[in-house]
Amino acid sequence: MEINLNKLAFICLHTSWWNIYPPQDIARNISKSIVSKNWKNYIENDYFIHKKLWFYLHTPFCESKCLFCSCWSEKVVWWTTLDIYISRIIKEFTYFSAIFSNIKLNHAYFWWWTPSIYNTEQLKKILSSIRKLYSFEEKAQWNFEISPHTMTEEKVKILKNYWVSRVTIWIQTMTLESLRVNGRFQTWDKLENIFSWIRKYWIENINIDLMPWIPWENLKNFLLNLRRIIQMNPDMIHLYPFRPSEDTLFYKKWFIYTENDIKNRDLMYELWVKLIEKYWYYWVENDSWWKNDSARNEQEVDKIINNCSILWFWYPTRSYIHKNLMYFTWYDMYNESNTVYMWIKLETKDYISRYIISHFRDGFDIKILNEKFWIDFLELYKFEIKFLEVNNILEIRGNYFKTKINNVFEKLLFSKIFYSEENIKVILDKFSYNEDKDYVKEFKDTLSIVYK
Ligand SMILES: C[S@@+](CC[C@H](N)C(=O)[O-])C[C@H]1O[C@@H](n2cnc3c(N)ncnc32)[C@H](O)[C@@H]1O
Ligand code: SF4
Repeated sequence: MEINLNKLAFICLHTSWWNIYPPQDIARNISKSIVSKNWKNYIENDYFIHKKLWFYLHTPFCESKCLFCSCWSEKVVWWTTLDIYISRIIKEFTYFSAIFSNIKLNHAYFWWWTPSIYNTEQLKKILSSIRKLYSFEEKAQWNFEISPHTMTEEKVKILKNYWVSRVTIWIQTMTLESLRVNGRFQTWDKLENIFSWIRKYWIENINIDLMPWIPWENLKNFLLNLRRIIQMNPDMIHLYPFRPSEDTLFYKKWFIYTENDIKNRDLMYELWVKLIEKYWYYWVENDSWWKNDSARNEQEVDKIINNCSILWFWYPTRSYIHKNLMYFTWYDMYNESNTVYMWIKLETKDYISRYIISHFRDGFDIKILNEKFWIDFLELYKFEIKFLEVNNILEIRGNYFKTKINNVFEKLLFSKIFYSEENIKVILDKFSYNEDKDYVKEFKDTLSIVYK
């Protein structure tokens, strides 16, 4: 099949910006028993060479929807929703646990959208079930992400009792007007308390997420906020500049993000980086700015560096069985009999491409890649390399694969060359590719509001 930029742009328009390969958008139905058979196969064969497997629990609920947020999330409407959810996840934990009874998992991760939404009893129930049903390595990192207004001292104590070792506090902003407009309820007092509880119970690491130029932010407050937050001495800082994408209420309510906003956002980001570095935070590869080397997110790093297998619960998240299968569940909360499993087949080259795509912008050492996957990269990927060279995107210096990518548009577009021919064909057919249309322009226009 002839591959060109228009086809790659078309793929970009129909797959997620998360740029994880293979894309979820081409999944097909699969039965739970086949998923379980594939896990058994991995545990009996590849696991003992790979030894990388982490546990992830998804909490797809929020108390309300924040204006800036681009995540699809379900608002908790009924008091019973969380209890129903918990009883069903525990059944899932139980179903899969027998497969992993002889191994120790590397890490556990409690992420998106509000894992701290549970009350203390619910939290204990979830964490104790995991501890009872699965074993973890002694040094496993247990990583729990929290929204400040949902936290109490009792919850922090429970996290510590179940060996949580890293907490991410989703601060985003502390500017009053911005908090009000975005629908967030957090105060400096609460934030300071959370920091002091985490330290009181000796949870090792605090990471924070902040959002440059979130709606109704202003430069002066933002710098003051950051300075005050730095004084609280978090171990790690992540900056995710605001993207006014179509999924946000900001966009749906017809608010406009102007060229000036984009300039301010990028300026703010640069100022923040200067400030962070002035206070001795260092950039660490594959993660963010840190002060303490145990603060990095081990799971995320393992995912990038080691193609770590991931046992993800629940919808709509993606489990990955190394060299085997990528699957996810879609679950209708109110209809118990309706757990739907979807999967994407992985050929040998697919899991290598997964690694390459995660490293695409920053580059990688070809020798390490060859040793990791027992391949000759320059031979196996000669078509893709040629394509990138013809488009003046690639620079191979000695053993190093380095791209000349300048922005998100180029990163998303050119990384699609690593999609398998079969997957490219599925996407073109599924979403009706029309070669007379200019998808490069359409994709560029869609991305024009996105940061670099
Ligand atoms: C799923 S959200 C969870 C946020 C968390 N529940 C909170 O209360 O802030 C995780 C991350 O997605 C990122 N995110 C969400 N919407 C975004 C947007 N519109 N632009 C940029 N990043 C966004 C933010 O970095 C956020 O911390
Ligand atoms: S920012 Fe967090 S709390 Fe707000 S809607 Fe998004 S996921 Fe929910």
